[in-house]
Amino acid sequence: TPPKVFITRRVPDRGPALLKSECTVTQWDSDEPISREELLSKVQGVDGLFCLLTEKIDAELLDAAGPNLKVVGTMSVGYDHVDLVACAERGVKVGFTPNVLTSAVAELTVSLLLATSRRLKEGIRAVENGSWGTWKPMWLCGPGLDGSTVGIIGMGRIGMAVARCLQPFGVARFVYSDFDEQPKARDIGAEFLPLDEVIASADFLLACCALTSETKGMFNMDLFKKMKNTAVFINTSRGGVVQQDDLYKALVSGEIAAAGLDVTTPEPLPTNSPLLKLDNCVILPHIASATHKARSAMSELTAKNILAGLKGQTIPSEITA
Ligand code: GLV
Ligand code: GLV
Repeated sequence: TPPKVFITRRVPDRGPALLKSECTVTQWDSDEPISREELLSKVQGVDGLFCLLTEKIDAELLDAAGPNLKVVGTMSVGYDHVDLVACAERGVKVGFTPNVLTSAVAELTVSLLLATSRRLKEGIRAVENGSWGTWKPMWLCGPGLDGSTVGIIGMGRIGMAVARCLQPFGVARFVYSDFDEQPKARDIGAEFLPLDEVIASADFLLACCALTSETKGMFNMDLFKKMKNTAVFINTSRGGVVQQDDLYKALVSGEIAAAGLDVTTPEPLPTNSPLLKLDNCVILPHIASATHKARSAMSELTAKNILAGLKGQTIPSEITA
């Protein structure tokens, strides 16, 4: 009998189509997330699970699935929602989707940086609400990238792609912090520096790191205080890397000039969040990988990871604990 695979949401067709050619596929046929209770029931007896970053893959879920489960494919590059140790303990392989979304995420990171630094939200509002009086020499000015120092926290695939995208804007200096020096960063002349030096020198500070126990909450008041008062902070990683209350205080007190966030805690951000009242904070609804091409490729790669795992083959993009 063909292996059973459960897909936790409506996703671009490529992945489900591939899986259906070899597996019995059931799917949560909605754009809204499946409830935890429903998920625990739907996974019973499956051989493979196609999930998203909105599902927590932990011991309880794996045990609910049972001993047939061989592979979990998450349609995301982040995997902080997956308990890799619990998966390894049960012999469950885990696939994720790096590379295929890198340029989409880099593009959105640059978009958010520009929207934030050049104050697009305030400008659009002014046009729409009639407060645009006339052309004013000192109105809605912000920092430009030309001649600036860009600091990148986490120089992985995405951090590198962001730096490459920003090069043509005339950035004077790229500095970065990571666990180790990244040889590829030499191609663009990026300097590997201690975290404190990156923070202190950056005109634009970009969080491009994974959420791990080491990065959880690292962007806190202590860090914001070390940043330039004119600096712009951008986060396209995970909301969890930021102490959000500290960020709010840093924006209100002028420790930093502005922030652009594609990720928040929680998601969705409640509409009464004080961050939404700030002119100097631009927030997007976690859309960094949302190009047609990237999402379709993510769906396909997730299916390929699952198919390989079901056959006991090498998983194209496997994560190990
Ligand atoms: C999106 O945040 C992803 O991890 O793919
Ligand atoms: C701006 O529109 C300029 O002409 O400088």
